[in-house]
Amino acid sequence: MTTPTRQAHLVRRPDGCAKPTDFRVVDVVLPELADGQVLIRNLWMSVDPYMRRSMSPEATDLEPWPLDAPLDGPSVGRVVESRNPKFLSGDLVESMSGWQEHFISSGGDFIPYLSPSDTLAVRRNEDAQPKDYVGLLGVAALTAYRGMVALSRAKAGDTAVVSSGAGTVGSIACQIGKIQGLRVVSSAGSDEKVRWLEEVAGVDAAFNYRTNSLDEALRKHCPKGIDLVLENASVEHLCACLPLMNELKQVLIAGLVSTYSTDGKVQLPRNFEYVLDRFLTIQSYRFMDSLDVYDQFVANMLQWRREGRMTLPEVVFEGLENAPEALCSIFSGRNTGKALVHLAD
Ligand SMILES: NC(=O)c1ccc[n+]([C@@H]2O[C@H](COP(=O)([O-])OP(=O)(O)OC[C@H]3O[C@@H](n4cnc5c(N)ncnc54)[C@H](OP(=O)(O)O)[C@@H]3O)[C@@H](O)[C@H]2O)c1
Repeated sequence: MTTPTRQAHLVRRPDGCAKPTDFRVVDVVLPELADGQVLIRNLWMSVDPYMRRSMSPEATDLEPWPLDAPLDGPSVGRVVESRNPKFLSGDLVESMSGWQEHFISSGGDFIPYLSPSDTLAVRRNEDAQPKDYVGLLGVAALTAYRGMVALSRAKAGDTAVVSSGAGTVGSIACQIGKIQGLRVVSSAGSDEKVRWLEEVAGVDAAFNYRTNSLDEALRKHCPKGIDLVLENASVEHLCACLPLMNELKQVLIAGLVSTYSTDGKVQLPRNFEYVLDRFLTIQSYRFMDSLDVYDQFVANMLQWRREGRMTLPEVVFEGLENAPEALCSIFSGRNTGKALVHLAD
């Protein structure tokens, strides 16, 4: 049987901020399954900052998204029909086949982000809801985990500074920092986010970087200097941290979201001399280098949530037609936590 469904396509490459009109939702009909194939109904998809770079033809570390063709991105769905013995009807599967309501998979092994978009991993965990696989257990969460657990050299009592603290990576990094006994200082783009950081994430200090001087706020909140920076946001934030870094300490760069809507060029930062004078380590990193600890990551995240020590706020956009709006919303800074698109129950 063929399957009528809908896909969101990119129809133009944005200049500056992405707009919902850069996308179009199109009706398509999927062919009948061949032997070895699986039909999936997507339930949830993720929108992520890196996708803005996939919209540009000059993306350097990613294949640019094609125009007028299916896109890729993290999603979780259910098998509705299987002609592959590895998958049963009803299995919950994670894939990189977002931006579409149904898709056909060849059932190859899924490696997040690096995989061709028709590969699958079955997910079975009684403590996890389907949306967790694109939220609390998704790639942004694994990025926070890799930074704070696998790469960080900070010890209890040390001061960690996390930018975009009310975003997905930032909010989880702040909470892991508190679980590790760090003194966590975080910045975010609104007073409401600052309140969430103080009252829910339990950080030691938070400030609104739009209404405060970065230099002054960091000096005020880091009286013993900084031992670890987890940078998500901007060169400006990273540079403001450098003069406060203690000797031999660490800057981990998960990303620089502020550069994604421009040409992505980054100038050598102000205060770079402190990198030399204080013998700092600056490291940019990717979550997929922590896939070997994926099972430990899932177990820890779910345990911390059960214990009430980990939470991820979600902003849910309903339906594929609102997926472009969901992606654009990331760059307006209006979401606290993870932006998700709900496609089906
Ligand atoms: N290395 C990896 O493997 C990997 C994997 C996933 C994500 N990342 C990176 O991690 C970072 C955070 O991602 P995420 O998934 O946590 O994103 P997210 O949940 O969508 O949060 C993004 C936040 O960035 C802030 N922001 C948006 N535009 C900005 C701008 N122009 N200047 C400064 N801040 C801006 C906003 O918060 P405010 O209102 O507080 O500004 C927004 O809520 C990004 O740089 C992303 O590329 C890296």
